[in-house]
Amino acid sequence: MNFGLIFTFFVLISSSNSAWWSVNGQYPAPILQANYGDRILINVTNNFGDPASIHWHGLFQRGTNYYDGIVGVTQCEIPNKVTFLYNFTLEQYGTYWYHSHTLGQIVDGLKGPLIIYDPKDPYYGKYDYEYVMTLSDWYHTPSGIILPLFRADDYGGTEPLPDSGEISGLGQYDCKAAPKNSTCNSNNKVATYVVKKGKKYRFRIINTSALVHYVFSIDNHPFTIIEVDGDYVKPITLNAIPINIAQRYSVILDANQPIDNYQIRAHISICGFVSDLSINYNTSLNYDVTGILKYEGAEDKLPTSKADSLNYTSLQCRDVNPNSLKPYYENKVPKNVISTFKALVDFNILPTGKVIGLINNSSFVPHSSYPTNQQIVEGVDPYKLPSYENAHVYECNSGDCNDAAVDIHIINDNDYTHPFHLHGHRFFVLYNGKNNTGIKPPHESDFNLKDPVTRDVVTVLPNSTTVIRYNANNPGVWFLHCHIQWHLNLGMAAQMIELPSIFKNTTTIPSDVTALCVGIDLDKKNKGNKNRKTE
Ligand code: C2O
Ligand code: CU
Repeated sequence: MNFGLIFTFFVLISSSNSAWWSVNGQYPAPILQANYGDRILINVTNNFGDPASIHWHGLFQRGTNYYDGIVGVTQCEIPNKVTFLYNFTLEQYGTYWYHSHTLGQIVDGLKGPLIIYDPKDPYYGKYDYEYVMTLSDWYHTPSGIILPLFRADDYGGTEPLPDSGEISGLGQYDCKAAPKNSTCNSNNKVATYVVKKGKKYRFRIINTSALVHYVFSIDNHPFTIIEVDGDYVKPITLNAIPINIAQRYSVILDANQPIDNYQIRAHISICGFVSDLSINYNTSLNYDVTGILKYEGAEDKLPTSKADSLNYTSLQCRDVNPNSLKPYYENKVPKNVISTFKALVDFNILPTGKVIGLINNSSFVPHSSYPTNQQIVEGVDPYKLPSYENAHVYECNSGDCNDAAVDIHIINDNDYTHPFHLHGHRFFVLYNGKNNTGIKPPHESDFNLKDPVTRDVVTVLPNSTTVIRYNANNPGVWFLHCHIQWHLNLGMAAQMIELPSIFKNTTTIPSDVTALCVGIDLDKKNKGNKNRKTE
């Protein structure tokens, strides 16, 4: 293998029918593969008709904050018919993904895996082959129709329900529920993974959903977790793993059973806020999404295997117990806490009836035509950003700045579960409060400072507090948000403005990045494009 190469990918985002996104004609978008230390150049050509942006979920983007892909935070939109180059170096390895971070485009399919191989992977040799698998929800109505309904004043803020669940883009739908004259196919292909008896397989599993949580299992095949959100963990064998939105796990599966077909099960949970007024309340969603683990030599027929007795209720809407996941390499938790951000997460109803998502009583609104990172580089005082920008600013002014740490207390003051994601970092999960344990700050003596697992998405349970810590070593503007697409659309987001003095002094934003913003103003003046919403 060669490392440290430069790879160029060409990504043409377009649509086959004006509502759904594809990348180079594919959904899920093609798997991008590279090696640790490589620089990748991704030419994104937007051929869709709507402006877009792409985020590289979980990548640190050290020194390239402006390629993080968040409209109004790190860049302006890529207009239709424009090609934009993302160009960054991979200082990490593991299982990641890329997705749109604009409007509801993630719902419509603009998402795919991004895999970074590690020459020193401690698990090489422990498996023979690998597969990449995505779990997703799927909506039959494009987000361009759902979003205006969702944002209407009198709509209660409950999450629109999907129509289907998918394994690697393949799902089944009950055609009796489909509208007449639709092209519904009741014999759609089932996601099938072929294995050879006696071999071992690494599955890299990514939940790319907009709304749903999955519990994943394969009949008769317990598997061993070796990677969590990009970092190795000590092997732990389970019958099923709960996997929330945007999280990733690598597991090793031993194909040691009799030659046959075995059911792959991805059980859906909706961890939010559903009422009979929810958009698509009458969904024909089948909560038991299935695929096939097929041994070479097995007959071509559907599996008749039985589910291992799984206690779904103890796994739904949760993470794998963070205390059971131990980092493979010793993790030094940074100790010089330079800032603690207490993020109170909630919803509110405006007098108009509109529901909004809040962090510390403020609903995030991006400045779409003047991204925060550009403002800071151009001298805007980060401490004076308007309150609706939900900015939390920190500098390192004392102690060992290599050991500088930020703590975030995610304080969930409502009855729903939120998978929280921080950009530009991997964080230590110091404390993961159980359901309804309250929003009082936990005691520091309850923090795991010895061997916490690291990840980049953590599930925050209803009415509870979760504490994460990360090394403040990446100057830039990093988004912090709930990864339920609908909660994000309601404004459940904040910006962590990390070491702005260093950022300002060391950053030159490339002119092709700032040029995107100029485009917006011209466009607004000349065409008044109605598609451009400020979000
Ligand atoms: Cu998957 Cu803000 O990211
Ligand atoms: Cu949420």
